[in-house]
Amino acid sequence: MCGIVGYVGKNQALPILLDGLKRLEYRGYDSAGFALFSKGNFEIKRNAGPVQGLVDASLECGKTETQGIAHTRWATHGAPNETNAHPHRAGDIVLVHNGIIENYSEIKTMLSREGVKFSSQTDTEVFAQLIEFRRREIAKKSEGATAETILLNAMKQAMTEVEGHYAIVLMSQSIPGKIFGIQNGAPLVVSNLKTGALIASDLQAIVPYHNEVCFLPKGEIFVADETGVKLTSASNKGLSFEKIDWTADKVEKAGFESFMLKEIFQQPLVVADTLTGRLPVDQKSSFIWDHQKAHEVLWKNVKRLYLIACGTSSHAAMAAKYFFERWARLDCQIDIASEFRYRSPVFEPGTVVGVISQSGETADTLAALRLANQAGVSTFSICNVPNSTIARESGFQYPTKAGPEIGVASTKAFTSQLTILCALALDVARLRGLQDGKESVQASFTGLARLPQDLDQVLSQSETFMKMGETLKDQRIILFVGRGTMYPIALEGALKFKELTYLPAEGFAAGELKHGPIAYIDPKVTVITLAPKDEWYSKTISNLEEIRARGGHIITIGTEGDEEAKRLSNEFIGLPQSSWGTQPILSVIPLQLLAYGCAKALGRNIDKPRNLAKSVTVE
Ligand code: G6P
Repeated sequence: MCGIVGYVGKNQALPILLDGLKRLEYRGYDSAGFALFSKGNFEIKRNAGPVQGLVDASLECGKTETQGIAHTRWATHGAPNETNAHPHRAGDIVLVHNGIIENYSEIKTMLSREGVKFSSQTDTEVFAQLIEFRRREIAKKSEGATAETILLNAMKQAMTEVEGHYAIVLMSQSIPGKIFGIQNGAPLVVSNLKTGALIASDLQAIVPYHNEVCFLPKGEIFVADETGVKLTSASNKGLSFEKIDWTADKVEKAGFESFMLKEIFQQPLVVADTLTGRLPVDQKSSFIWDHQKAHEVLWKNVKRLYLIACGTSSHAAMAAKYFFERWARLDCQIDIASEFRYRSPVFEPGTVVGVISQSGETADTLAALRLANQAGVSTFSICNVPNSTIARESGFQYPTKAGPEIGVASTKAFTSQLTILCALALDVARLRGLQDGKESVQASFTGLARLPQDLDQVLSQSETFMKMGETLKDQRIILFVGRGTMYPIALEGALKFKELTYLPAEGFAAGELKHGPIAYIDPKVTVITLAPKDEWYSKTISNLEEIRARGGHIITIGTEGDEEAKRLSNEFIGLPQSSWGTQPILSVIPLQLLAYGCAKALGRNIDKPRNLAKSVTVE
């Protein structure tokens, strides 16, 4: 969702700000803007629509300015137009903001009574006006105080009045050469460059410039100038910077027509990276984790596991339920975070809560994690962004190593999550002494080791999958069905399809077809059936017969050489036979590419589908 960039230093600020905004586009937004500190005043430009529009409108700007802030806005309060775009000016200050001010309406009423006039419908302007109002009040009572002290006191005062999780970054007309801000629950990353200080809401805008970064702690006010970033808290805590192994080339398209296509093709590599150094020498030995002792204690004492996530990550959780129940005989409950956080989940001794999130910033998932932490149960996270809020606040982490995922529709992060979950469930089964005699355990160890190779083989058919996708663009609805571990993959296939193509698509457990969805079936309906040669195969084949009898168009994703499934289908995709634990990871690849091919044929914006955001930092 919204993105922030700020720079103050010796270099021209505007190119850095616009480059940062472009790199944050993937988060999802509908307007953009910047403010430059220019000749004792601010030069502000805002634009509804793509960052490129802002770039085109700024060709004559920012030739000499070395200080500025910029923003991409995903509308929450007020329409996505130029007036509501950030930055917002209030008297002496100009401000950009991520997150939501929950009590903005009360504050607006209070300020309006005091004569403050508003020009937008945003909660952001309310925050800016509140700081400006307090700044003026404090200035009257603080003769002799510096403009900086007065502003910092006003920011502190505003923090006590404003409710919500947010990050703000601002400049003051009276204080040239400095940028100020607050991290209060929405991430801010900073880096001290040789030429100045860079501030952003997201690593992507920083890594092309420097790989030493600091995620600002919550509840802190910072000040940045050309010498770097400092916290202003009384404790005067120093900032700890760390090296990130994300490099600029990892956030480029590398010759692919879209980030999503690049990310689909990276899957063999990132799955290999996720497994590197973790696979055990043999089935009796432990997988290797970063915090081995804590891992063993946790899983030896577990009685119930909750896996909580949103969107694509929740489909990884659903697939993992099959692994944990079968291999580790563990009660595993799945919930989407937006429901879990408002239910009354039962936390008993031995309950473990695992949260899964690509971004590590999803507001609902974070709230679910905090609920579990407050209840005092053990928590862990499976995140893809190192040092994200969820990663930091969870008891410990099983990081995926997918690298930056820019395409809004998740692909490589999902396959990496499934890979980690498969490995984890196998290891938990070992710790609980339950591995022996299970054929699927042995096969899945082997399946994991050869997964990158198998994924490569599936991707070698990418052209065929995309062409098949093109043919779906005129269908009335696309249904995705599967049984067992293929059921969550069917849900994920449908989600990818609707995210990318905006066409109706639904996922079902194949056994549920006859309880309703079968009413859809006619020749304008395509049913994509996941029917690998697993234990549910014969049942899924019966479902194919039912769909065929009603004239539905069938695409089956099955096992290479399966003539029976081929005979029953209009089109057939044969995949290599993998293991019970790894087949779902292979099976999602054709679904990603079918959706891709169809979206491309429809001329959709593949990396940034309409209305969606990559990092959903509001409820
Ligand atoms: C958004 C994204 C999805 C993602 C979901 C959960 O809706 O568009 O691609 O699956 O958030 O995000 P997370 O970062 O928590 O995995």
